[in-house]
Amino acid sequence: MVTLSENPLRVGLQQDRIPEPQILVIFGASGDLTQRKLVPAIYQMHLERKLPPELTIVGVARRDWSDDYFREHLRQGIEEFGGGLQSEKIWHNFAQGLYYCSGNMDEQESYQKLKSLLAELDAKRLTRGNRVFYLSVAPRFFGEAAQQLGQAGMLEDPKKQRLVIEKPFGRDLGSAQVLNRVVRNVCTEEQVYRIDHYLGKETVQNLMVFRFANAIFEPLWNRQFVDHVQITVAETVGLEGRAGYYETAGALRDMVQNHLMQLFSLTAMEPPNSLDADSIRTEKVKVVQATRLADFNNLEAAAVRGQYIKGWMNGQQVPGYRDEDGASPESTTPTYAALKLSVDNWRWKGVPFYLRTGKRMPKKVTEIAIQFKEVPFLMFQSAAKQANPNVLALRIQPNEGISMRFEVKTPGNSLRTRSVDMDFRYDTAFGKPSTDAYARLLIDCMLGDQTLFTRGDEVEASWRVLTPILEAWDAPAAPDSIPFYEAGTWEPVEAELLLNRDGRRWRRL
Ligand code: BG6
Repeated sequence: MVTLSENPLRVGLQQDRIPEPQILVIFGASGDLTQRKLVPAIYQMHLERKLPPELTIVGVARRDWSDDYFREHLRQGIEEFGGGLQSEKIWHNFAQGLYYCSGNMDEQESYQKLKSLLAELDAKRLTRGNRVFYLSVAPRFFGEAAQQLGQAGMLEDPKKQRLVIEKPFGRDLGSAQVLNRVVRNVCTEEQVYRIDHYLGKETVQNLMVFRFANAIFEPLWNRQFVDHVQITVAETVGLEGRAGYYETAGALRDMVQNHLMQLFSLTAMEPPNSLDADSIRTEKVKVVQATRLADFNNLEAAAVRGQYIKGWMNGQQVPGYRDEDGASPESTTPTYAALKLSVDNWRWKGVPFYLRTGKRMPKKVTEIAIQFKEVPFLMFQSAAKQANPNVLALRIQPNEGISMRFEVKTPGNSLRTRSVDMDFRYDTAFGKPSTDAYARLLIDCMLGDQTLFTRGDEVEASWRVLTPILEAWDAPAAPDSIPFYEAGTWEPVEAELLLNRDGRRWRRL
């Protein structure tokens, strides 16, 4: 029997430490992420007293703003996108720790100016030389910023200086390898926090607890009992004014390489030895290294892309992707991607993992569905006139929860069966909202806990899986070569076929 004190899950989940005093330096601080997500999340933690009172934030960006202007800009963000200020006094106290430093990403003088400001603030705010540098800038600047920070001597202390890098980390395997080399030239892997906000979501972390704190699921979690797995991240939003970035990214780089591959690896990995960051990350890397596209020789049988055209969402007509501001009228950028992956290991050989994601789908829903094999022989009459396999669905968002689908007898004299769901919902069970993903990750980074951040080899392994698709989809192509789907509908027909060919179908969510 495992006792509480020797149970690593229990130890790892006691996570209410307060980080040391420090300065969070946000590069790209005039952008949306800082105003809408990062600072509202930090403010919420400030309200919950999860941060040291000395915490100081320095925003860096090109625009010529003053500290006061920056403070006002963030105040609006907290009011509009966060939970509000709560009181002027609390805001005033928090705002004292906000500073702005204008500068250019590619000029060493800007880094020198920042360096002196940080030294001044260390003395004034007692932040003891502890720093987190958060790169929330266009991906093409990641390498430049890391190099310049290194050159300015700002990443020399592995115990006190950390570097957070947003996604996408690279554009393909080659560029991710180059970026990893640049970063490792200026700091150690222990200082690097490659952020993927999906790992900060409570229900994503619950995947591990669900799998490894319960004895009844793990014995079924393999090729003997599982028929296939479907991972869906469907969004209702369209381009949201991000054409400049999205036209160069597309669904594969924006969602699959990071968010979906994270959900995949947590679902498929072997149990780690402990909750120690590297034990978990090693298991994730191992399973991704064993993963490949289901069919190399026939890409269409393993990967499908799509782009939304105009359609209706909630009774309103919305434009097609090519009519969105900033998108090329002949763009072949995919807003939808579906893949079939195979895992060559003892646990999963022969069990397909189908992944799909798309913008302008009918519903926002993220879920992982484990579909079990059919019973070997069906004795009963089923309402659906066929065997209904059991499905375990882990809902990541919205309505976070877990449901299990199984067969029951319908009331009456005849022995007929019907499928029902046994449902667990987070909100009804715990009655309080989950911690914001960014808040969780920022705190972990300030505490020096890398568990929920992606290691360099993991990023490279996942790019390696996607490389054959990137090569094909990035090649110049005729504008009508991409399959279309109407906004407000599920996938293009080609994606239906991806499963139908295997005698399966996508779940209707
Ligand atoms: C971001 C992508 O990483 O994730 C966006 O860049 C996407 O395109 C977003 O909309 C989805 O995140 P969430 O938390 O709303 O599922």
